[in-house]
Amino acid sequence: MKTIASIAGLRAELALHRSAKKSIAFVPTMGNLHEGHIKLVRRALTEADIVVVSIFVNPLQFGANEDLDNYPRTLAADKDKLIDAGAHLLFTPVVDEIYPEGMEPHAKLSVPMITNTLCGASRPGHFDGVTTVVNKLFNIVQPNVAIFGKKDFQQLAVIRKMVDDFCIPVHIIGEETARASDKLALSSRNGYLNADERVLAPTLFKVLDAARTEIANGNRDFVSVENTSKNQLTQAGFEVDYVAIRDGRTLMAPTEKTKEYVILGAAKLGTTRLIDNLTLKA
Ligand code: PAF
Repeated sequence: MKTIASIAGLRAELALHRSAKKSIAFVPTMGNLHEGHIKLVRRALTEADIVVVSIFVNPLQFGANEDLDNYPRTLAADKDKLIDAGAHLLFTPVVDEIYPEGMEPHAKLSVPMITNTLCGASRPGHFDGVTTVVNKLFNIVQPNVAIFGKKDFQQLAVIRKMVDDFCIPVHIIGEETARASDKLALSSRNGYLNADERVLAPTLFKVLDAARTEIANGNRDFVSVENTSKNQLTQAGFEVDYVAIRDGRTLMAPTEKTKEYVILGAAKLGTTRLIDNLTLKA
């Protein structure tokens, strides 16, 4: 696996692969890689000849109250995992490479509406930071396909919307959430949980799964299902941000046109904010 830190260097390397008619799959990450990321890399290997992974902790998507400085940077261990997984190229730009004049004067890309709800409501500006950097990374890598985890369901929906609206020629693939044996969705943030919190954490999955069963059994009183789930989480010791049953494509309230429901939850255990989601055919 080659590690390249400059945009020019990565472009030169990718030009060689493109002229050899190789297809390119891209997995953007912020590092601190776990099995969930490796699942994305494995999927990428099945989708294209060359797999490019980026590790860039994007300051633009962190809020003022979110701890950018303490975000775990584990490059050496990440590289080992990517080599084992079979990735071909690792792009590791520094902040100045992506935002050479700083973040303030840099052009921003914003997807309206779908970013104002759910996680966007409690993390203002977060998704603008995500779409700005993902669009830039797409322009640098120019992949045929890009793989994102379904755990970040809203992020995936926002990126799909950006790609559709701007006719960006990248096929977006959502990969199923990787879970621990107790069904906790794998996340870099799980490392922040203390032992007691780690035992409680899979309750988020269990509560969302109970809501899914309720809907599968025909309950269409979504507000009441959401409220039951919120109460269950609060009683278990979570500080609930939201539990919401939405249309899986628009992330708005389900309508008669909805083809897939998504049940999304975000809640804090101590200081750690966990998110998860489950889908169900309408
Ligand atoms: O999901 C992430 O790790 C980040 O939001 C992404 C997509 C790499 C953009 O910085």
